[in-house]
Amino acid sequence: MRNYVTRTLPHSSAVVVSNRAPHEPRPEGGFARGAGGVVTALLTLAEVTSADWVSCVRTEAERNMVEQRGETIVAPLGRSTTKLHYVNPTREQYHMYYSVIANPVLWFIQHYLWNLAQEPNVDSEIHTAWADGYVEVNRQVARRVVEVGHQLPERPLIMVHDYQLYLVPKMVRRELPGAIITHFVHIPWPTPQYWKVLPRHMRDAILEGLLGCDIVGFQSSLDVRNFLMTCDENAGLAVDDKERAVLIDGRVVYARHYPISIEVAATTRLAFSHSVLVEERKLREWRPEHLIVRIDRTDPSKNIVRGFLAYEKLLDHHPELKGHVQFWAFLQPSRQDVAVYRDYLRLIRSTAHRINRRYGGGGWSPIRLDFGESVRKAMAALRNFDVLLVNPVYDGLNLVSKEGALVNRNNGVIVLSENAGAYEELHPHVLSVNPFDIEATADAIYRGLVMGAEEKRRRNEGARDVVRTNDISRWISRQVQDIRDLVGTPGMRARMSS
Ligand code: G6P
Repeated sequence: MRNYVTRTLPHSSAVVVSNRAPHEPRPEGGFARGAGGVVTALLTLAEVTSADWVSCVRTEAERNMVEQRGETIVAPLGRSTTKLHYVNPTREQYHMYYSVIANPVLWFIQHYLWNLAQEPNVDSEIHTAWADGYVEVNRQVARRVVEVGHQLPERPLIMVHDYQLYLVPKMVRRELPGAIITHFVHIPWPTPQYWKVLPRHMRDAILEGLLGCDIVGFQSSLDVRNFLMTCDENAGLAVDDKERAVLIDGRVVYARHYPISIEVAATTRLAFSHSVLVEERKLREWRPEHLIVRIDRTDPSKNIVRGFLAYEKLLDHHPELKGHVQFWAFLQPSRQDVAVYRDYLRLIRSTAHRINRRYGGGGWSPIRLDFGESVRKAMAALRNFDVLLVNPVYDGLNLVSKEGALVNRNNGVIVLSENAGAYEELHPHVLSVNPFDIEATADAIYRGLVMGAEEKRRRNEGARDVVRTNDISRWISRQVQDIRDLVGTPGMRARMSS
């Protein structure tokens, strides 16, 4: 893969830009890999493009490290290393940027999570956090990217990631006009109407920021369509639907979808590793006849509570399952500095406890609620599920469904929300559900549990083939191909030689 990228993208020096750094310093020294599927994918991207990396200081451990070792450190990256350049906003700026604007405001808009009759109230806190937090941190990140860009040996290829950093491309474009700039939006892009929850100056700044790019990447074709519609409806820009392109200030910006994926070889290796086998041994000690699994951050978009309510319906409709089934929810507490996330975690706990009190007994607990971060445990769960429940309200892609499809060795069935980005690729092989319909979700789980072996095998094989074909290399090579095509266009050649 690395050879492919250097061959196809000669004469450029890559920089990956993301809010979260790929690694977090451990108190005892060394680094631990950052949480979340996005980081895993970006690690591969940075490794194969030999990229530098620009990220924000988020934690006290990172702040201490930067104070001791300076703002650029050498961090591990697969088999090599990267130069990791930190941006160090004040705690207050970071709080406004991350905990007031990015999560919840933008995240909630992009996953359609607001209960619009009552929220959000765009008050002075949000206005201030936008100007002094979101815009300011984006400015600091852009400044750092420009500094790094000036030091690179070759033409910069700047790859910005996700909703925390929408304003960066335009800011960088001003200072590095010859750079190739891309932004990949990992989460859904909603309709133009829903963007109108945001005051005009904020939503315009987001669009203009992104349109500083050459290519804006999304997870699904629907996201691309929504983005083009947003440029047309909300900003009155000239859009070419056939070319999937927007014209702004005499420049063409392309919108493309590249569904993100996993590294097949590495995931398979991990699935067969000794440490995962140890976890599987532990699992065998308590494994019920039917095992339902979910693995998620405790994010309201993941729809964990409705998943439990659907399971409760299942137990209501099929009392014969009592004592023979267990729902293992392996969850990672997330964004606990944001009140709605804390409330959601409380609701997850109270719902699970209520269901366990109502149905449990005689040594059987219907829901096994398990909190923590362990890729090994997650792998053991994914290898062994009979049903994997992935029922997000909306989700950019959802890598758990792809990991489950690849490593499950039980001919397990995936119950997948039709609003997850992965649905576009996996739908022929999964049981699809409307994530709001708890009756339908209960039925789908049941269908998964009682499905005949032959049908399960067929679906399993189909889903696995999709993941094997559309793996992380494809995610990267399709982007590289588009960048290469773009570099070859006359407009781009002129800009780069100017
Ligand atoms: C999602 C987002 C990422 C984010 C990750 C973990 O996957 O798209 O940008 O890094 O969640 O969330 P956190 O807020 O902990 O970085």
